[in-house]
Amino acid sequence: MGNFYVTSPIYYVNDKPHIGHAYTTIACDVMARFQQSLGHDVYFLTGTDEHGQKVEKAAAAKNISAKVFVDDVSENFKNLAKQLNIINNDFIRTTDERHYKSCQALWDNLCGKGVIYQDNYKGWYAVRDEAYYNEDELTTNAQGQKIAPSGAEVTWVEEPSYFFKLSEFGDKLLKHYHQHPNFIAPESRKKEVIRFVESGLHDLSISRTSFSWGIPVPNNEKHVIYVWLDALTNYITALGYPDTNHHLYQKFWPANLHIVGKDIIRFHAVYWPAFLMAAELPLPQRIYAHGWWTNEGQKISKSLGNVIDPMVLIHDFGLDQTRYFLMRDVPFGQDGDFSRHAIIERSNRDLANDLGNLVQRTLTMIVKNCESQLTNINNDHEDDKKIQEQAKITYDKVTDFMQQQQFHRACEEIWILISAANRYIDHQAPWGLKKTDPQRMHVILSQLVDIIRRLALLVSCFIPDSANKILDQINIEPSQRSLMFYDAILHAGHNINNPSPIFKKIDITE
Ligand code: ME8
Ligand code: MG
Repeated sequence: MGNFYVTSPIYYVNDKPHIGHAYTTIACDVMARFQQSLGHDVYFLTGTDEHGQKVEKAAAAKNISAKVFVDDVSENFKNLAKQLNIINNDFIRTTDERHYKSCQALWDNLCGKGVIYQDNYKGWYAVRDEAYYNEDELTTNAQGQKIAPSGAEVTWVEEPSYFFKLSEFGDKLLKHYHQHPNFIAPESRKKEVIRFVESGLHDLSISRTSFSWGIPVPNNEKHVIYVWLDALTNYITALGYPDTNHHLYQKFWPANLHIVGKDIIRFHAVYWPAFLMAAELPLPQRIYAHGWWTNEGQKISKSLGNVIDPMVLIHDFGLDQTRYFLMRDVPFGQDGDFSRHAIIERSNRDLANDLGNLVQRTLTMIVKNCESQLTNINNDHEDDKKIQEQAKITYDKVTDFMQQQQFHRACEEIWILISAANRYIDHQAPWGLKKTDPQRMHVILSQLVDIIRRLALLVSCFIPDSANKILDQINIEPSQRSLMFYDAILHAGHNINNPSPIFKKIDITE
């Protein structure tokens, strides 16, 4: 089996955790769990991005040192990962000592390759985005303020700065995109990145002197390393860089997948590969950019006061309901709109009715009529063969969609099988066979348990707690709870446990 390295963007530590953070990281978690279930050795990284002018300002406003400030707020994100049931292997902080070492080593590496030079930076900078903008990207708002495409205010900056020779990498990047058609996804983002690179790349300012909260430039302490060069390096720090013989680096670099939001695609698909090319390090295999959430049709922002707290969602709807909704309701890659109505709908219909009832009614009948035991399932009956065949097809389709990060399509396929199982039970009507053909009733119910087992394995990366509850009820050994056991056989005499409802229905009027 292979190795799989998936990374989540590291959160800007000074924001409060919101639905966007939860979304990014849940998507990575779904991917990590899925790859693990296939038998791969998975490494999954998340963490916090703690340097930069924004953080320095936030700490100053509270009259505390930046370090005290970040120690405190990074806990919010550690806690978020815990609450979301994320299986990350590491939680990196860019203030970790290992990261200073790694980042400065990458800087030295780049210097040695002759791609860094010193000059003066003159141009527009948005502190909110920690990003530089060209004049032609800006608009002017009603107050006469210059505004970046992201909506952030920009200020004119003039200071001595080190530059990275990004302008030398345009053709190399375009060639790489061309030779690796899966490098950037979805397609719309790939086109956007290619257009940006084709329009011509300017050298990139990679150090700042007007504030000090950052990683010092080696041999010139007046400068701190640009926060994005710093942040991106986290992906290799965690694997032991600069020790490229480190067992983690050897095993997991290059990353299989960086999942990011569309707002930071340029940093991941242009700057990061250019830095790596320049440093002669291997490039990640794929960068997938997801879309942007709005709240009941409105842009989410602190000033509008409509920020969605993932803890509130977990409290109001349940963790798996939240995870499922985020992965299912919106095509991964497109923008999505959060609404309480939509999450309740999804929970009640897909989870409680379709999946929950299937499990509950099947297991109840087995407990009542079959002494909680299974019999051998039938491979000759046409209807049984049909649903078995369908379960095989579902596996293929789901794995296919998962490999392309089409999480919503994967769920769609799983729910097609759930519907088929519900139709099978309705059509076979085992309750009517109790007197006339108890053997057939037993076969049908055992057949259903096998389908339920497969369904639980398929949904487990999305709703891990609920899947485990199902697998507990049908008594599947923990060691067999992975997709590698999808085609395992439950034998006659296998005992199931007493069922209890897995999903609560949410009262829409509450
Ligand atoms: O960008 N909808 O951190 P961040 C969907 N530190 N996703 C959203 C969102 C929304 N409304 N708001 C934010 C950073 N996100 C950098 C990353 S990686 C080397 C450095 C997503 O805390 C956003 O797209 O601002 C990003 O993927 C993640 O949340 C963290 O954003
Ligand atoms: Mg952001």
